[in-house]
Amino acid sequence: MKSSLVQKGEARRQTLKELGPKSKALSRRKEAVVAEAVSPLAPFFIAESRGSTIQDVDGNEYLDFTGGWGCLNVGHNHPKVVQAIQQQAERFIHTDCSVVMYEPYIELAERLTQYAPGNQPKKAAFFNSGAEAVENSVKIARYHTKRRAIIVFEGAFHGRTLLAMTMTHKASPYKAHFGPFAPDVYRAPYPNPYRNPMSFVAWEKQLKSLVAPEEIAAVVIEPIQGEGGFVVPSEGFLACLRKFCDDYGIVLVADEVQSGIGRTGKFFASERFEMEPDLICIGKSLASGLPLSGVLGVAKVIDTVPDSGIGGTYVGNPVACAAGVAVLDVIEEEDLLERAEHLGSLLEERFQEMQEQYDLVGDVRGVGAMQAIELVKDRQTKEPASEETAQIIQGTLKQGVIFAKAGLYGNVIRMLIPLVMSDEELNDGLDVLEGVLAKVSG
Ligand SMILES: Cc1ncc(COP(=O)(O)O)c(C=O)c1O
Repeated sequence: MKSSLVQKGEARRQTLKELGPKSKALSRRKEAVVAEAVSPLAPFFIAESRGSTIQDVDGNEYLDFTGGWGCLNVGHNHPKVVQAIQQQAERFIHTDCSVVMYEPYIELAERLTQYAPGNQPKKAAFFNSGAEAVENSVKIARYHTKRRAIIVFEGAFHGRTLLAMTMTHKASPYKAHFGPFAPDVYRAPYPNPYRNPMSFVAWEKQLKSLVAPEEIAAVVIEPIQGEGGFVVPSEGFLACLRKFCDDYGIVLVADEVQSGIGRTGKFFASERFEMEPDLICIGKSLASGLPLSGVLGVAKVIDTVPDSGIGGTYVGNPVACAAGVAVLDVIEEEDLLERAEHLGSLLEERFQEMQEQYDLVGDVRGVGAMQAIELVKDRQTKEPASEETAQIIQGTLKQGVIFAKAGLYGNVIRMLIPLVMSDEELNDGLDVLEGVLAKVSG
C-alpha cells in the first residue's frame, strides 16, 4: 500500500501542469519592476514553507531539494528558530555591535568556536554574507602575514563582491564584463578525481610556477566544492596542503559557506579530511536564511587585526545571531549530523543505481548529505551533458520537485536538502528525478 506522502506526491505531480493564476499575476508585476538579473529558478511565488516543502500562492506544494541554496539545514521555518527570532525582535533588533554589544553574538561565538577543529584557542567575527566572510578572511590573512598573494582554485565559487568575484572561477554569469578584477589572486588546479586527478607533488610544482610561496598570504579552498559541482578533492590532498601552508607560513582558509553547519555529517567538512584550517568561513545555514556569516579561526591569527579593521553596520545582527543559536540547538537536539549521514547513504545508493542504469550519469560523488551526480553525453570523453541537465531540472520542477544544478559546465545535479527531510520525501523526490532522467536519457 502506498503511504500518504507518496500519494500526496503523485497528486502534486498531476496538479502542476501549469503555473497558477496568482503566480502568473505576480510574474507580470515582477517583470515590470525587478531587474532582469534577479531571475529565480522556480517560476512560482511562495506563500509559506515548512520543513522540506514550499506552498505557492496558488496552493500547489513543492518538495525543496535546494534548501534555498543550502541555507536551510534545519528546514524551512523551524518552530524553534521562528520563536528565537520573534523573542529577540521583541527585545531589540539593532544596536550595531561596534556601538553596544549583546549576548546572542557572544553565545553564538562561544558555541561555534567549540565546533572548530583543532586544539588551538579560536575566536569568531560575524558578517552578513558568504562573500563578506571570504573577503574578511583574506583581510585577516594579509594583515597577519603582511603578504599579498592569494591562492584560489579552478571551479571555485566565493561570492560576487569585487574580491570574492575575482576569487570565483566561472566567467559567465559571475565575471564576464564585470572587470577589472582585484590584483594578486592566483588560480591553481583543484585536484578533481573525475576530471583532473593530480598528485600533491604535481600540484605544488604548478603552484610554484605561478607565485613564490613566500609571497602567499592565504590559500582559500572549499574542502568540497559547492557551485563547482560538489567535487571532493583527491585523497590526502588537504593534509598535504596543510603541511605546505605550515612550511611556508601561509594562512589556510577553508571556505565552508556551503559545506559547513552539518551538511557532510560533521559540523565542518574539514573534519572529514582531518584538516585544521587557520580560518573557516561560514554562512548560508548558519542562521537558517537570515543574513549572517562569519569567520572562525585561530585566535592569534584573527587577533592581529586591530580595532575596527573588520566590521560593518549590520554585521552579527542580534536577531540573526539569536536564530544562529537556535539553529545549533536544533542540530544538537535532533541529531542532524547523524541524519545527514543517513540521508547521504540513501542518496548515494539511489545515485549508484541510477549510474548503473543510465549512461548519462557519469559520476556519483559526495560526502554525507552533500551528494551529487555529474551528467555526461559520453562516458569515455566525459563531454558535459549541460542541456540534458537543464532539461532535467525543468522537468522535475514541473512535477513539483525543485533541484539545483552546479558545475563549471552546469552538468551536475546537487543535493542541498534540508536535513530534516523524511526518508519518504527523499525517495519521492528521487523517484521524480529518476523518472525525468529516464525520459531525457531516451
Ligand atoms: C563556498 C561559497 N562561498 C561563498 C559563497 C558566497 O556566499 P553569499 O552568496 O552569501 O555571498 C557561496 C555561495 O554560494 C559559496 O557556496
